[in-house]
Amino acid sequence: MDVNGKAAIVTGGASGLGRATAEALVKAGAKVTLLDRNFALAEATAAAIGALAAECDVSDAASAAAAIAKARDAHGPARVCINCAGIGGSVRIVDRKGQPMDLDHFRKVIEVNLVGTFNTLRLAAADMSSLEPVNDDGLKGVIVNTASVAGYEGQIGQAAYTASKGGIIGLTIQSARDLSAHGVRVCTIAPGIMLTPLLMGLPQDTLDLLGSQVPFPKRTGDATEYASLAMEIVRNDYLNGEVIRLDGAIRMGPR
Ligand SMILES: NC(=O)c1ccc[n+]([C@@H]2O[C@H](COP(=O)([O-])OP(=O)(O)OC[C@H]3O[C@@H](n4cnc5c(N)ncnc54)[C@H](O)[C@@H]3O)[C@@H](O)[C@H]2O)c1
Repeated sequence: MDVNGKAAIVTGGASGLGRATAEALVKAGAKVTLLDRNFALAEATAAAIGALAAECDVSDAASAAAAIAKARDAHGPARVCINCAGIGGSVRIVDRKGQPMDLDHFRKVIEVNLVGTFNTLRLAAADMSSLEPVNDDGLKGVIVNTASVAGYEGQIGQAAYTASKGGIIGLTIQSARDLSAHGVRVCTIAPGIMLTPLLMGLPQDTLDLLGSQVPFPKRTGDATEYASLAMEIVRNDYLNGEVIRLDGAIRMGPR
């Protein structure tokens, strides 16, 4: 789908992978709204790249509905939804003292990463279904989710994160099938180690070590490489129901 002149929403668009994708969408002529919990940063990013900002907690039904309504009022219903909002966190299932993980930690990560992704997916898909198709296939819109290689090879301490990303991986083919009647395609990107603000605070030798674990190219991924793949998923009308790893062939070890 050609995004020129079309409305797009990007969750987590204030920072990192979401920001890079929002920037690519704007450059391609889309009318973009950044949906982010960090509204101050979303506003600053929006001003820098030529987008609109909407405050949004993706895990909250009312908050996401209000943010999508703000985007719709400004640009019309979105044809493109990029789901990048997410959180991390490292907690072992049983700690060194034999104490079980606080269940609230597990719930929180699932709420933001998995429930949050599904929340905006369902709202965006409903908006897309109200639109006229853009081509003879009946295509109305495209949704791109963000999982992680941790959804396949979760490392020690990543129980909640791995379960949340594994959920997004499983949801991909299911939601593509579910939304096929509405002309909506769904794909997911599973990134490896990407250099975003999440990692930029680490010392250079730690970044070098992380990069050296990648078979080829021996470096961390760049947010523009994520954005490039997200744009290709949007552009290529035959991509649907697929999870694509973007990881330089890395397969994570246990730690
Ligand atoms: N950077 C990596 O190496 C990497 C690897 C694999 C997967 N991912 C995934 O990519 C996505 C983007 O990560 P990033 O590296 O760009 O991180 P980031 O921290 O730079 O950006 C994440 C954005 O999501 C927003 N956010 C967090 N919780 C939110 C909520 N409840 N509602 C709305 N917005 C919320 C944050 O404010 C932030 O702007 C995440 O889902 C992450 O799990 C990142």
